[in-house]
Amino acid sequence: MFGEGEGYLDGMNFLFLTDSIAWQQTQTPKGTCLESVKIAIDTGYRHIDGAFVYFNEHEVGQAIREKIAEGRIKREDIFYCGKLWNTCHPPELVRPTLEKTLKILQLDYVDLYIIELPMAFKPGDAIYPRDENGKFIYHETDLCATWEAMEACKDAGLAKSIGVSNFNRRQLEMILNKPGLKHKPVSNQVECHPYFTQPKLLEFCRQHDIVIVGYSPLGTSRDETVNVSSPPLLKDTVLNAIGKKYNKTAAQIALRFNIQRGVVVIPKSFNPQRIRENFQIFDFSLTEKEMKEIEALNKNVRYVELLM
Ligand code: A2P
Repeated sequence: MFGEGEGYLDGMNFLFLTDSIAWQQTQTPKGTCLESVKIAIDTGYRHIDGAFVYFNEHEVGQAIREKIAEGRIKREDIFYCGKLWNTCHPPELVRPTLEKTLKILQLDYVDLYIIELPMAFKPGDAIYPRDENGKFIYHETDLCATWEAMEACKDAGLAKSIGVSNFNRRQLEMILNKPGLKHKPVSNQVECHPYFTQPKLLEFCRQHDIVIVGYSPLGTSRDETVNVSSPPLLKDTVLNAIGKKYNKTAAQIALRFNIQRGVVVIPKSFNPQRIRENFQIFDFSLTEKEMKEIEALNKNVRYVELLM
């Protein structure tokens, strides 16, 4: 169902929940992420999407280790995705940054390591470095050099696969056309849901065997960090009407739509009932007509504007 990448995301028909609201360094209440990941694993989720800047990787790692100790899963059943933050693009920082993540997780490797954003911030302790006027301090980045450092992490066995996030076609081409490319990105994690379906990027990625992983597949929590000019996705009348036919919620229809078109989804939830609900999408299929109806909902407007 999914692109072949380097074989790593193949058949990855488990969803996941991402675990935080990174944008404003909002830390999740202690233990919430631990409990949610454990419930998710018990429910059947295997793909866990995290990041250093979610500040809860220690809880994700603990949840995975506890479930392994219980005998419920083996390490190789889990697919953990970690992310290289904007302040760590200089090639010499890439491996130490991943090693730091592994130390926090207390794991030997991540299954996927991705460049979180194509632009860089000034390296240093500040996650969001700002000048005296409150403006972000950017840093020049050579994405090809950063990519070579990512390749070295894969060669060293610290990451089984490597990919990117929030890359547009031009930025993907920069990597794909890099002289001496050793490993191409297996995935590109971008916003993707019925109001922002990404038809062109999806087609380009399909042609290059790059899996699209869709974040905010439920239309986000609509907090103050996002653009809410589009109405709430889950109130959509088409999604709700189709849901009624299958006895499913609008959320389940939105997720099913994406997986049925080969997009991996990573719905975030800290609510046990909704974590389970978001997994109940493998017992029905949408018709071609319904897929087209949902595709036609595309507004080409992002919720997550990344105004950095
Ligand atoms: P909660 O964590 O309380 O469940 P996205 O994945 O698009 O960023 O959406 C995340 C938001 O959607 C969170 O606010 C989450 O809240 C909420 N959410 C997750 N699953 C569902 C669901 N099945 N129905 C409604 N809201 C959901």
